[in-house]
Amino acid sequence: MDKISKDVIEFWNNAIKLEEDDKKEIENSGDKDYTKLAPSLKLYEAVKELGKCEKVLDYGCGSGWSSIIALKEGAKEVDAVDMGDNIIDAINFYAKYYGVASSLNAKKIDSDYLKSVKDATYDGIIINNVLDVIPLDITLDILNEVSRVAKKGARIIIGLNFYMPQEVAKTRGLELVDGRMLFVDGVLRLYSMSDSEWTELLTKYFEIERLDHFAWEGESRETRRLFVLKKTVSSTK
Ligand SMILES: C[S@@+](CC[C@H](N)C(=O)[O-])C[C@H]1O[C@@H](n2cnc3c(N)ncnc32)[C@H](O)[C@@H]1O
Repeated sequence: MDKISKDVIEFWNNAIKLEEDDKKEIENSGDKDYTKLAPSLKLYEAVKELGKCEKVLDYGCGSGWSSIIALKEGAKEVDAVDMGDNIIDAINFYAKYYGVASSLNAKKIDSDYLKSVKDATYDGIIINNVLDVIPLDITLDILNEVSRVAKKGARIIIGLNFYMPQEVAKTRGLELVDGRMLFVDGVLRLYSMSDSEWTELLTKYFEIERLDHFAWEGESRETRRLFVLKKTVSSTK
């Protein structure tokens, strides 16, 4: 794995880590309203649709909020995969807390993992806020494999950060490496592509059902992107 990717994984593995005190605090709160786990209502509603699926892949699951929602909304089984130990520990904790552990398979993976998954395995896939924080060559590998492991008719949800063009970055005193990559303290935090660039790329693999925009709580403008996609042809590999 290249250094940029290693640093990205290490960053998220530390950011998502739940200490024992954090776990106790969550347990003591007794709050089981899973709908609040989604960073926005539009994302919640998109993920809720995955509740109709038999088998869902949550790729780069992080804390696994989307896996929990899909299961709570009726999905039969979810494979939640990511690359750090703390991340897998966190999702296992949340799955138990929200009472969905028996239908959730949390798995620590390496970069070749998707190659080991059979063609047409999933009828639902979510990749939220992953493809926009990693280098483009890795995104292309992931999309190739995701397209192969999606069943014909599968629903694929891709959530992305906002687009930051180089001119806008400059006005904020930021430099995008190669006009695309924003590094913060040496860690790649944004791979910046416009709506039309993402549309052109995703169209190579899927039919685009819709592109919507959303905001996180506290943000005044809906600049984050939500693609709802459909796999329309059978796997070719
Ligand atoms: C911004 S977090 C998003 C986590 C989660 N999907 C969410 O919506 O909260 C990015 C996640 O992508 C994971 N990740 C980064 N590169 C990856 C790769 N090549 N394959 C799988 N996961 C990756 C990181 O470990 C991290 O958990």
